[in-house]
Amino acid sequence: MRFTAPIFVTGSAGRLGQEVVLLLRQRGYRVIGADLVLAPTTDILLDIRNREAVLEATRGCGAVIHTAALHGKHYDLQIPRLEFVYTNVEGTLHLLDACVAHQIQKFVYTSTTSIYGQALVNPHQAVWVDEELPPQPRDIYDITKQAAEALCRDFFEKEGLETTVLRVGRFLPESPNLAANHRLYRGLDARDGALGHVLALEHPFSSFEVFNIAAGSPFEQADLPLLKHDPTAVIGRRLPEATHIYQQRGWTFPSSIDRVYRIEKAQRMLGYRPRYTAQYLLQE
Ligand SMILES: NC(=O)c1ccc[n+]([C@@H]2O[C@H](COP(=O)([O-])OP(=O)(O)OC[C@H]3O[C@@H](n4cnc5c(N)ncnc54)[C@H](O)[C@@H]3O)[C@@H](O)[C@H]2O)c1
Repeated sequence: MRFTAPIFVTGSAGRLGQEVVLLLRQRGYRVIGADLVLAPTTDILLDIRNREAVLEATRGCGAVIHTAALHGKHYDLQIPRLEFVYTNVEGTLHLLDACVAHQIQKFVYTSTTSIYGQALVNPHQAVWVDEELPPQPRDIYDITKQAAEALCRDFFEKEGLETTVLRVGRFLPESPNLAANHRLYRGLDARDGALGHVLALEHPFSSFEVFNIAAGSPFEQADLPLLKHDPTAVIGRRLPEATHIYQQRGWTFPSSIDRVYRIEKAQRMLGYRPRYTAQYLLQE
């Protein structure tokens, strides 16, 4: 365990934040869960848009894991752009400033693979998505997450705050068939997402780093053209047991796979080993 002072977790009532709090507690950390809404994983009610309240709430903490955000769901609800800026950019800045004010050393930021945006679009083949792919944000959600990433980098370089960015894949509620399909190339179980955050918390960084965090994928670079147009053939080759299990369960394969999220950097540097992979879902 790297920290004895409490870990401050924002968004502690959310899908990911809850899992982060539970995993930290399981590993013996003291945790302060903070959210706008109550939950068994929330210790204090806090609006991260309130600068003074953030400063007060984070006093005495050892590290911050920042999962709270307005995200894709809120974008679909047509929440105004300014609200995204207040929560995702200003809220993040308040937390970063609070870390500096209290000499908190470590800040783990939850970003999103969504910021790759337009770079995920290729009519000819699936896109190989590692951290080298330049983000091309498509909407105000992506724009504000990218701005918050840039703030994290700025604080690493100018304030000596050990910030790390995790671009997490999709972990929305889905049917078992859709979840298995997504887990082949872009999905994530929130529990593995939490694992990525705790590993990043515990890892000492001497440089600013960005990591993709997803379930991983059985596909290889040579598969990219076929994945786009005939993924069934590729899945049959890379994951032979899937064909029979899908048939048994009456599931269908995706008709096209447009991207493959790569997690080798997190595996290599953090020792990240996701448990709830596509293979796991097939064996359930
Ligand atoms: N769900 C996904 O598929 C997905 C994919 C990629 C990245 N992410 C990122 O993961 C993080 C968590 O997403 P989630 O799906 O768990 O979301 P969620 O909506 O379940 O949880 C977010 C939490 O943040 C809280 N929150 C929002 N505004 C706040 C404010 N002003 N002050 C304090 N708390 C506030 C909400 O009350 C909520 O409990 C977000 O940063 C999101 O951008 C999510």
